[in-house]
Amino acid sequence: MRMRSLSIFILITVFSCTIAAAQKPRKVVSFDDNWRFKLGDNQQAKNVEFDDRKWRKLDLPHDWGIEGSFNEKNPTTQAEGGLPAGIGWYRKTFMVPSASKNKNVFIDFDGVYRNSEIWINGHYLGKRPNGYISFSYNLTPYLKFGAQNNVIAVKVDNSGQPNSRWYTGSGINRNVWLRTVNKTHFCQWGTFVVTPQITTDAATVHVSAIIIQGVRDLKLKTVVFDEEGKKVASCLSPVKNAVDTTITFAEQNLVIKKPLLWSPSRPYLYKITLQLLHKGKVLDNYTVITGLRSFNFDSKSGFSLNGIRLKIKGVCMHENYGALGSAVNISAVARQLKLLKDMGCNAIRTAHNPPAPEFLDLCDQMGFLVMDEAFDMWRKKKSSHDYHENWAEWYKRDLTDQVLRDRNHPSVFMWSIGNEIREQFDSTGTSIARELVSIVKSIDNTRPVTSALSEPDPHKNFIYKSGALDVVGLNYHQDLYPDFLKNYPGQKFVATETMSALETRGFYDQPTDSTRYWPKSSKIPFKDGNADFAVTAYDNVAAYWGSTHEETWKIIKKYDFLSGLFVWTGFDYIGEPTPYPWPARSSYFGIIDLAGFPKDVYYMYQSEWTDKPVLHLLPHWNWKPGQMIDVWAYYNQADEVELFLNGKSLGTRTKHGDDLHVSWQVKFEPGVLKIISRKAGKVVLTEEEHTAGPAAKIILSADRTSIKADGKDLSFITVKIVDKNGFIVPDAYDLVDFSVTGAAHIAGVDNGSQISMEPFKANHRKAFHGLCLAIIQADSKTGTISVNATSPGLQSTSVELKTSM
Ligand code: GAL
Repeated sequence: MRMRSLSIFILITVFSCTIAAAQKPRKVVSFDDNWRFKLGDNQQAKNVEFDDRKWRKLDLPHDWGIEGSFNEKNPTTQAEGGLPAGIGWYRKTFMVPSASKNKNVFIDFDGVYRNSEIWINGHYLGKRPNGYISFSYNLTPYLKFGAQNNVIAVKVDNSGQPNSRWYTGSGINRNVWLRTVNKTHFCQWGTFVVTPQITTDAATVHVSAIIIQGVRDLKLKTVVFDEEGKKVASCLSPVKNAVDTTITFAEQNLVIKKPLLWSPSRPYLYKITLQLLHKGKVLDNYTVITGLRSFNFDSKSGFSLNGIRLKIKGVCMHENYGALGSAVNISAVARQLKLLKDMGCNAIRTAHNPPAPEFLDLCDQMGFLVMDEAFDMWRKKKSSHDYHENWAEWYKRDLTDQVLRDRNHPSVFMWSIGNEIREQFDSTGTSIARELVSIVKSIDNTRPVTSALSEPDPHKNFIYKSGALDVVGLNYHQDLYPDFLKNYPGQKFVATETMSALETRGFYDQPTDSTRYWPKSSKIPFKDGNADFAVTAYDNVAAYWGSTHEETWKIIKKYDFLSGLFVWTGFDYIGEPTPYPWPARSSYFGIIDLAGFPKDVYYMYQSEWTDKPVLHLLPHWNWKPGQMIDVWAYYNQADEVELFLNGKSLGTRTKHGDDLHVSWQVKFEPGVLKIISRKAGKVVLTEEEHTAGPAAKIILSADRTSIKADGKDLSFITVKIVDKNGFIVPDAYDLVDFSVTGAAHIAGVDNGSQISMEPFKANHRKAFHGLCLAIIQADSKTGTISVNATSPGLQSTSVELKTSM
């Protein structure tokens, strides 16, 4: 991973230096700073002269929901985590240099949740209901240039509730950009790079671009650079003059010799720069980062990438950054992806909407295949005020914009036109599916299209019956997977959604001899469960429509024609806290909890999905004397494992058949539980669980001790409550207070509890099963930051961070 991070760093540095030097005719600057915000509606705020001086100052991205308090009575309901929504207004006053007078100035919103309406200098620009879509407005006709103020006002209306089955956040929760280009420029998302032919000797790169032509007789110059910045292909050709319009189109073919291919294990990227030339002058330039890869779904052999069979080992992810809500932040996305990468995950399904652009950039760089999903509903609703209200007016535009925006990402390998869409149960599903697939194909015919189907009977599913899907995506119904080819002859398979297993980190129920379904069915009210609304972290509880992690993975692993799966979900998210009622407010489905702490089953996946040696022992070792405890271990790359309690062997175990873990029943006595894995008699790994004494001190560890002084970068500080010997106290719930000195602040706190009503924006957090988290955000000054943690009765501690430019 160190090598990988280094090469990502080199890549970014090489690319950004080249971009800085070459990008003068096109200026894309962050428009995130210095906004004013007010929660509540005030239609006057659209007017230029409105006095917003008393409004709160903030920088984007911003989610006001995550700043609120949990309340069962909030109109968002428990399904969205019970956090507030409503209406909010943003305003920003800014100047545009006189030099931009003869240019075109656009504002690009990566996404606003939801129903944004925008005014520039009092002029209404438009409305965009979809909360997950990127959109732009041309500001040019309404701007004042030079030393005059411009005012942009944004109304965000998330008051129609409920409108989602999970937490969405509210506000301008993705980045905003100001894009200044010449009258002659590359049309937004009009550039498309495809690689029709890739062999080990050569790759053909086809580049096409839509051009807004301000002057005639243009030339297009395209250059391809490798990761070291070396030119590997180039082309210069005249652009056809537009007839009767200002829009023209150019295309070129380039050949890269001895191409290096992109894959999750080696995400090699090329940079392609396009320049529009007029009499030797560069009028616009545009950069596409691409990866060369070919892939195929086969009904018999499953999925292959670059000619080599690859099981899709994926997870579904909602756009939720825990304590940061839905406000996108590159370091938060990178942390999530790094944890998933270390687990061996190679694919992500963006459930159930287009993601933030930064997410796809990171997937390109870090090596994830992405199923880019469009919708959770079509015409028929799932929640009373969801996107079905906007469907008729917006679906064509939204789907088109999603595909246009994302089609150059090498990570994106499939489109999904929807998740568990209600129209699969009636004939309208057929016509809508056909239309949506044809929209996708008209923009990008290089990737297969699927839809995540929950009705598994091919004769009853009208979306399947449309015949429009390239790959059949099934959600759950894992028992039917082995017979897939009997039921769907000749079809290609992917498990778009699986498991819905439930776990609370650090909590263990005894014994583990049966699988429990919580709830048992849709008809039986859920009465089981624990008093503290936890679910055991042994992998033996699932929602009735799903399975344990082991059960479905064993099936997927066994059959080649099953191309792979997407586990529901990689991380816990706010909302949808099946199976519990309030105060449960976040989900139990994650392999990793909301704070980013892996649950035990993370190591099952790691032992199966990676090549690194893994040995993981559970549970903790703090029980009542004499209590019978099921001890489990996940391991790989060893012939056997042996367990010891206080030095005495409790026997060796070996996985047989399709076993994914081994276990022992152990009568608890305090001390040291130790496990050793051996291969050919040699010790591979050793793990220990110690009976912890009373909580005595706090240990802090930062995921990154050096961060950028850019007002955005984050360091995630893990807080451990340990006994005097440094062993984590599994039942520690101490309240920890944080203070920060230096140019940084606390961006959020969490502990992964699914029922905590504590605020995410605070300088304190209770530990949960011995752990909590503080997220530190750099301000814009360089220097040293000290993060201190104290708790009554515990030895306090601090950690130092550095911020640099
Ligand atoms: C699925 C659905 C997901 C999520 C999941 C919870 O049916 O597609 O969005 O709700 O159930 O188990």
